[in-house]
Amino acid sequence: MTGNRTKAGKARFGADAMAPATDTLPGVFPREMGPNAMAYLQEVIDSGLGSNMIQRFTDYLAEMHGRKYCIGTTGCTQAIFAAMIAMDFEPGDEIIVSPISDYGTIAGILLENYIPVYADAAPGAALIDPDSIEQRITDRTRAIMVVHKLGLCPDMARIMAIARRNDLIVIEDVCQAILAKCNGQIAGTFGDLACFSFDAEKTCGGDVGGAVLTDDPDIFKRLEQRVPGRGAVTEPGFGRVYLNRGFALQIPQCSAAVTLANLEILPPQVKQRQATAAALDRLIDDIPGLSSYNVPDGHTHSYWMYGFIVDPDAFTCTVDQFAQQVEAAGIQAAGLGRYYLLADGVPFLRDQALARQFPYSQPPASYDYYPDSYTGDAVPHARDFLERWVRWFWTEKYDMNHVDLMGRLIRDIAERHRR
Ligand SMILES: Cc1ncc(COP(=O)(O)O)c(C=O)c1O
Repeated sequence: MTGNRTKAGKARFGADAMAPATDTLPGVFPREMGPNAMAYLQEVIDSGLGSNMIQRFTDYLAEMHGRKYCIGTTGCTQAIFAAMIAMDFEPGDEIIVSPISDYGTIAGILLENYIPVYADAAPGAALIDPDSIEQRITDRTRAIMVVHKLGLCPDMARIMAIARRNDLIVIEDVCQAILAKCNGQIAGTFGDLACFSFDAEKTCGGDVGGAVLTDDPDIFKRLEQRVPGRGAVTEPGFGRVYLNRGFALQIPQCSAAVTLANLEILPPQVKQRQATAAALDRLIDDIPGLSSYNVPDGHTHSYWMYGFIVDPDAFTCTVDQFAQQVEAAGIQAAGLGRYYLLADGVPFLRDQALARQFPYSQPPASYDYYPDSYTGDAVPHARDFLERWVRWFWTEKYDMNHVDLMGRLIRDIAERHRR
């Protein structure tokens, strides 16, 4: 992203900050809002903030995924934090994490003083490699945090088998992949817990919002007590007694109202994203030197982001220059996503680990953090992928004419720089 095209820019300048460089291609904003959004908001207002909107939102999301329990939060960062609070691991316990993600995936891990251990991606892929997970398991490993990056699940059958064999909890970060599927099963229904985002620019935007889904009644009880309950129980004759660390992470009623209305229109929007992205894949694969992201058999991509892979040897320009030209041609926010490599993007962890500061001071820190666990050297496949991958936000507003235009723009750049 360039200039003000950041979350901070959008907060300050509104949707104009996220406007596309041309008026030919639509941008992500303004989002289409579900037809019931205003009625649901009105209900919240008319009830004097006494509505049951949060319950209706959580029931809807749980039912949509066929899961038993749901807690609404103010974002996916907070959903993951809530999941971490509910786990009751020990400080210094290790959680194996996908290497390519947003800081929100690990923030809750760090706040609970657990240790994120990055597994590598599969070669040529953005998703965690089950073999690498197995290599990272130690006697301190307690959980696997699987990120369904871009809109795509990794091999969940293998990951769940590894987890069960090693008695590990699986948390799915579904932030980017609502309604993606793996062998017919929907994202967010594999792990012990699944965390969602309804941030304004996500596939289902609800302004701020998130959720945790689970089928486990004990996990749900802990989540309920620590998120809406903030860690307290009420003792007769005394009042609130705080039995655990809780935190004010609950989704507000207005966000629940907007998100509920937008969930109601989500399935056809995802279908539209899939149809247009598949059409662009065909055009990209027809351009020598470029290739579409390989969606493995049995997987259904829900396309929060679209991207293609550039063979750097095929062109006279660098991959960065290629991406800059894609954005300059009018494809909003196209660029490389190097910052998604958490091992490089979160350097304070490296400093903390090298200095053996808490929780890295905890005996026994069973994983050898020194010298390169918190650099891209630890996850070379993930790093290599991000060096060659040009991506941008996909939107249900794209139609086949937009796809044709994008295909032509990208082909033109490729031909101008062909080696
Ligand atoms: C994979 C992933 N996890 C977590 C987050 C954090 O989500 P939120 O902005 O809802 O806190 C993001 C945000 O982009 C993300 O992409």
